[in-house]
Amino acid sequence: MDRIVDLRSDTLTRPTEAMWDAMHHAEVGDDVYGEDPTVTRLQELAAHKVGMEAALYVPSGTMGNTAAMLAHTHPGEEMIAEELAHIYCWEAGTYANIAGLTVRSVQGDQGIFTPQQFEEVLRPANAHFPRTTLLCLENSHNNAAGAVWSVDEMAAVTDVARNNGLNVHLDGARVFNAATTLGVDVKQITATVDSVMFCVSKGLSAPVGSLLCGTRQFIDEAHRARKRLGGAMREAGVIAAAGVVALENMVDRLAEDHETARLLAEGLGAIDGITATRAPRPTNIIMVNVADLGWTTTDLVERWAAAGIKCNPRPPHGVRLVTNRHASQQDVAYVLDVTREMVRSVAIAAG
Ligand SMILES: Cc1ncc(COP(=O)(O)O)c(C=O)c1O
Repeated sequence: MDRIVDLRSDTLTRPTEAMWDAMHHAEVGDDVYGEDPTVTRLQELAAHKVGMEAALYVPSGTMGNTAAMLAHTHPGEEMIAEELAHIYCWEAGTYANIAGLTVRSVQGDQGIFTPQQFEEVLRPANAHFPRTTLLCLENSHNNAAGAVWSVDEMAAVTDVARNNGLNVHLDGARVFNAATTLGVDVKQITATVDSVMFCVSKGLSAPVGSLLCGTRQFIDEAHRARKRLGGAMREAGVIAAAGVVALENMVDRLAEDHETARLLAEGLGAIDGITATRAPRPTNIIMVNVADLGWTTTDLVERWAAAGIKCNPRPPHGVRLVTNRHASQQDVAYVLDVTREMVRSVAIAAG
């Protein structure tokens, strides 16, 4: 295949030259003994970026979210999350099978819910109900087409959480994308929550890892949780070095991914029968739907695959596209040309 345009995820981004160089020269030690200077540097940098006391380097976003649940709650308690939240729908049920939590979900409007909706799912203290102790927000919201909560929207629901004695964890896997869209320092987003997990392995292009951040006391507890989950790493400075480069050099370029997503969504949306949804405050994620063409998800996935275009299926009629550092504006032009031609030739074949 001459050309591959891989829009399955921003997790596919490969390390930059600067990252390879930093990894090659990383100063390392055994981080289980707290002796890896590069991991320590990454954790300090992460905490500083989000305005929190401390941070913990974990192998994945899923482990960061799970460690957060373990550190904030006790088995048998209840967490509130949006109905399509990653922590609820896409993390193999860790909230239940590891943290021992039940979830009450709130149906957001494109991922965002109001304080009133949140209050409606909160139940009074009563022996019939589990104790509700944690609210998890997601910003940007992956499965709501990369939707962004504004700082005010977050503050409004986190106020309700505080008034009801809940802690708030932010699944900020792509929180730097959210900050880019809002045009604010990421600290303004994280100021309203007790803990945040963000990934350096997504649009920021590091090969591995996420950071869980919060108070020193919370991170001490999360440290024990990471150990329980098997996530204590040894000379992890080798990979943490790329995380440092990600935080220092890669945040500003996320705007390019958002611009690529805009061009892609506008172009696809202009083709008859295709809808390409971006959130009202958009980032790098697009939900495409081909129901009006009479196509299934498999039809689109297979036709695009034949032209080297990769996407993430969202059956029965949709796919998710995530722009990233390896998808250029020329690639967008290619995807649009291929798609227009595909739609035209299928229509001709159908007579
Ligand atoms: C919003 C969100 N949270 C958490 C994760 C989990 O990250 P990881 O794949 O590193 O476990 C993802 C991954 O796509 C995500 O999109």
